[in-house]
Amino acid sequence: MPSVSGLENAVAAETNLSHVDGLAGELIIAGYPLEELAPNATYEQSLYLLWHGQLPDAQQLKDFSDQIKSLQQLPDVAMYVLEQAAAKSLPTMDALRMAVSTLSVTDPAPEDNSLESNRARAIQLVAKAPVIVGNYWRMKNGQAALEPKEELSQAGQFLYLIHGEVPDPEFVRALDTYWSTIIDHGLNASTFTARVITSTESDMFSAITGAIGALKGPLHGGAPGPALDMVFEIGKPENAEAYIRNMFDNGERLMGFGHRVYKVRDPRADVLAQASERLFDKAGDRSLYELALAVEKTALRLLEEYKPGRNLQTNVEFYTALVLHGIGLKSEIFSSVFAVGRIGGWAAHVLEQMENNRLIRPKSEYVGPTGRTWGAT
Ligand code: ACO
Repeated sequence: MPSVSGLENAVAAETNLSHVDGLAGELIIAGYPLEELAPNATYEQSLYLLWHGQLPDAQQLKDFSDQIKSLQQLPDVAMYVLEQAAAKSLPTMDALRMAVSTLSVTDPAPEDNSLESNRARAIQLVAKAPVIVGNYWRMKNGQAALEPKEELSQAGQFLYLIHGEVPDPEFVRALDTYWSTIIDHGLNASTFTARVITSTESDMFSAITGAIGALKGPLHGGAPGPALDMVFEIGKPENAEAYIRNMFDNGERLMGFGHRVYKVRDPRADVLAQASERLFDKAGDRSLYELALAVEKTALRLLEEYKPGRNLQTNVEFYTALVLHGIGLKSEIFSSVFAVGRIGGWAAHVLEQMENNRLIRPKSEYVGPTGRTWGAT
């Protein structure tokens, strides 16, 4: 039975995109187990798979990648918004949300809400999102925006903009794995938001703008930054127990642990743990990775002690933090990097909803007062 609170266990859509089995700890993306797809696919391949239902052949992949590359230039209106946001040092998620919303201004057919027009909007969004976040990061940190480099992949382009140099292929591989891991995940809060907006016959830009807003919160996409901050603050494995007990005593939640659907370990955590281990091995310093493992072990033991029977396990965000730190990103930008990868999944859901739409409109149960009389105090 669905629970009224938080719509737990309610089924609100049929999808061909991904299947989450929270008891078996399995995630299937368009037929592929996550463990098969994420370590091997580029982001472009995962995106094509979601949008077309099958992996591309070499020519299809080239055409798809070329199309994305031809759309990376940001319109002036988006650059203006980013400059204003940077002047106020606004969070990157806010800048992304506002810049995405401006893309309506340069839309060639703003009144046309056909599937075809929205497919074209989806490609625009995917092409521009890494450039928005990458260049916003530069502007916010007092650096000039860079022109995207035509020859780079989506992951390569993003890392180039952030670091100002063509990235190490290992870093690109790690980001492709990360984005392929998080590209889609059933009817999570942001994807649900995108589908609800779409169900009113609204457009792709509106749905993605709303989804970014939903992802921003710390209970959803905002967790990896605080998860990494916690590991750094703990500093040494022997500090973990006291630090975490103190958090519980103050009624705080451990970021990167617990999940509405997974009652066993989130399979995305394993894929990203392996990706981060490779990065730290290559860098020749495993100390942060070893510390994170020790923190995780202590956290799981104390979660069981403080919240017995709730089955609170490591979620995707804990190892997201390590992968993104390993490729040289700061915790402040983590949620936006998540959003850039998830835009592909949101867009796939928007198109799927459009193809077979019915207004999403649940009921509420009124529990307020009744029988009041106008004028009576
Ligand atoms: N730390 C401490 N306690 C927790 C945690 C946590 N991370 N997660 C859940 N609990 C506790 C709650 O306090 C509650 O305890 P109670 O029954 O004594 O009141 C119990 O477990 C159940 O919690 P709910 O909030 O009902 O569980 P829900 O399914 O709504 O929450 C959520 C899922 C929001 C992810 C939660 O586990 C959480 O807040 N985790 C930390 C934030 C986080 O990592 N978010 C990223 C999720 S992954 C993603 O969105 C991509």
